[in-house]
Amino acid sequence: MTQTWNSDRRRTAIGRTALSVPARQALADGQLAPDRTVLDYGCGRGDDVRALQRLDCRVVGWDPYYRSGTKLEPSSVVLLTYVLNVIEDQAERRQILLRAWELATTVLIVSARLTWEKSKVRGESFNDGLLTSRQTFQHLFGASELRSYVEQVTGGRVVSAAPGIVYAFKDDKARLSYLARRIVPDAEWLASEDTASAIASLVVYVELRGRPPKIEEMPRATAELLAHLKPNELRRLVRDSADAQKIADSAKRSTLNTLLYLAVELFNGRGPFSSLPVSVQVDVRAFFTSYKEACQRADRLLLKLRDDGYVRGAMNASRAGKLTPTALYVHRRAVDSMPTVLRLYEHCASIAAGRPAAWTVAKLKHQGRAVSWLNYPSFDTEPHPRIESSYMVDLQTLETSHTSYANSTNRPLLHRKHEFLAPEDPDVERYRRLTASEAKAGLYEHPHLIGTENGWEAELIRCGRQLRGHRLIRRTMG
Ligand SMILES: C[S@@+](CC[C@H](N)C(=O)[O-])C[C@H]1O[C@@H](n2cnc3c(N)ncnc32)[C@H](O)[C@@H]1O
Repeated sequence: MTQTWNSDRRRTAIGRTALSVPARQALADGQLAPDRTVLDYGCGRGDDVRALQRLDCRVVGWDPYYRSGTKLEPSSVVLLTYVLNVIEDQAERRQILLRAWELATTVLIVSARLTWEKSKVRGESFNDGLLTSRQTFQHLFGASELRSYVEQVTGGRVVSAAPGIVYAFKDDKARLSYLARRIVPDAEWLASEDTASAIASLVVYVELRGRPPKIEEMPRATAELLAHLKPNELRRLVRDSADAQKIADSAKRSTLNTLLYLAVELFNGRGPFSSLPVSVQVDVRAFFTSYKEACQRADRLLLKLRDDGYVRGAMNASRAGKLTPTALYVHRRAVDSMPTVLRLYEHCASIAAGRPAAWTVAKLKHQGRAVSWLNYPSFDTEPHPRIESSYMVDLQTLETSHTSYANSTNRPLLHRKHEFLAPEDPDVERYRRLTASEAKAGLYEHPHLIGTENGWEAELIRCGRQLRGHRLIRRTMG
């Protein structure tokens, strides 16, 4: 088989000492659950296969060069990890993707190297990619190109799990439960050892979700302990012990979460009511008059995303985030405090292009529609954290771009950190005090100078100040 190829593909398979990023993502997203069979198609040297087997996954690997003896059989999950980008023939690339799709019964997980790695790949132009000096081929994908390519070839509904990793679902139920996991995390259940602790955990659940659960939503141990109580008794117990105000607040939040979920679902492709995860079905019944009404409201929410005035108004009203003339900047911890239409904005962008694994602040533009995820690894520890990377998706063109500041000597940095957080965040007070003393010392008199490391340092010197942790002190000589 190798002789018919125009590149030396087997040389693209590297030995791995740790699980690949796509396999790790799939694991974290619950896609490699023990009840699913997994095929690693184009597994190379098989390091992912071995690592996943050690994690008790039911996985086999196949590779035309390294493991061609494995019998190819349909599997719930097919992993196609960094295979498409090494195939130089476009017709064959498509065929391999289709073959992988045919073999997947629940979800196909495709990953590819991205254009942002361009500087790492050198070679001569060949077909739609590069042929390196080692005779290996690389077609680097744009993040949205990968998603639309997989969608177009497979005809399945595709979600970006992270940049360069997409999930193409064959099974609507699996897709909708994945979306629910991303958008409306299940309320936590406390462990129950006896009927009293099971009732206590039921009360906490109701206070957090804003409605009572169905028995099938409970963890098995809790369900077994509560199954002997009649529904009326359970209702009375909850009514007597739960905090009514907490339930009302949570019901409001769950209503908005359900709307957000249904709007994202519309953006990604709506399925029938019966395909929704049980918890979302129960939310719809508890908080809306009908599924139809819930969908209509969710559709209106999605429409509002196109309305500049509405989006701008939501940004003005947001409890969290710093509004500048071009965008709203919100810390990762505070994104759920934004108005629902803005949460939807950020979710749609992440479905299209994938949120990067590491990010600290989301930037939502209000003219045009673009979201950037900015990474400030030292946000919590440095008074003025410096940016490390940014990843942007334009929702109108679906173009993505990635900027790394790792080698930059004069990086942009942040001021007034409290503005990125929700007011109740425990760090807000400390950050606010620092901002106040910096303003008092005159450090914000020349805003155009302080946006980068060098300018900020120069202003600190001019004002005779220095920072010690989150405190501003007089500068000492020497
Ligand atoms: C970059 S490696 C990735 C290997 C492995 N998935 C990993 O991430 O470690 C690309 C792999 O694709 C395999 N491959 C090349 N052409 C293929 C084809 N037509 N069908 C399936 N796999 C193929 C190669 O043998 C090689 O092992």
